[in-house]
Amino acid sequence: MSSFRPQLWTIPEVADTDKQRLPERTTLLEQRLRIIAERFPQAVFASSLAVEDMVITDMICRLQLPIRIITLHTGKLNAETEALIAATNTRYPIKLEVFHPIADDAAEFEQQFGATAMYDRVELRRRCCHIRKIEPLNRALATAPAWLTGQRRSQSDTRSELAFEEHDHARDIAKFNPIFDWEETDVWAYAQANDVPLNDLYRQGYPSIGCEPCTRPVKQGENIRSGRWWWESKDSKECGLHK
Ligand code: ADX
Ligand code: SF4
Repeated sequence: MSSFRPQLWTIPEVADTDKQRLPERTTLLEQRLRIIAERFPQAVFASSLAVEDMVITDMICRLQLPIRIITLHTGKLNAETEALIAATNTRYPIKLEVFHPIADDAAEFEQQFGATAMYDRVELRRRCCHIRKIEPLNRALATAPAWLTGQRRSQSDTRSELAFEEHDHARDIAKFNPIFDWEETDVWAYAQANDVPLNDLYRQGYPSIGCEPCTRPVKQGENIRSGRWWWESKDSKECGLHK
């Protein structure tokens, strides 16, 4: 009897062409981050500790920019992601600002709807995301004149129009996506060339990493975000951080 085990996604191989365009990409990233820091010295970078966010963190630290780096600890992260918070603080001369959900709100939600409520109804999943991500992000950005993300155009169809600078209308502040035009291999080329610390889940078939209950590994060739909220239809798959 043959047991067929589908091959999981693996970290993309960095080709020579990717390596060749890295210096240009890197210089441009440097320029973009300097521009943001000059215009908004108290800007806040929201890092999920994804490889994209580690690249930006590496450059912010390299340039010693006054940009604050925060992360939203939802209380539902994998151990591998938690470990990277400590590893980042060890590697770089910074201390990530960690924002947690309001404990009473998170506990009350679970008491009322159960720990697996996110699978039951999209509305409950969104409420969980609101308590564990959106409200803490609102707190993190309360006094920020601008914020930064690690989003890229090629991550999904919904991000194909992403620009370097946007306006966050809900918060009425500037929003920047400094690697909006990078391909996945550009990100890995930078990470490898600069020995950036990485989430171990990348070696376990996860190309995109969120909370533990809502993220799973994907098969080779599948969409890189297909392991996020995999039980939901494509249209509902947004946690609301980037409306
Ligand atoms: S999500 O909307 O589907 O959750 P994704 O995981 O692709 O977003 O991350 C996109 C960007 O959102 C990240 O590069 C980061 O800027 C921000 N982000 C997402 N999750 C977090 C988090 N837990 N803490 C801080 N920033 C986050
Ligand atoms: Fe809750 Fe899942 Fe949203 Fe995390 S991604 S906040 S566990 S619903």
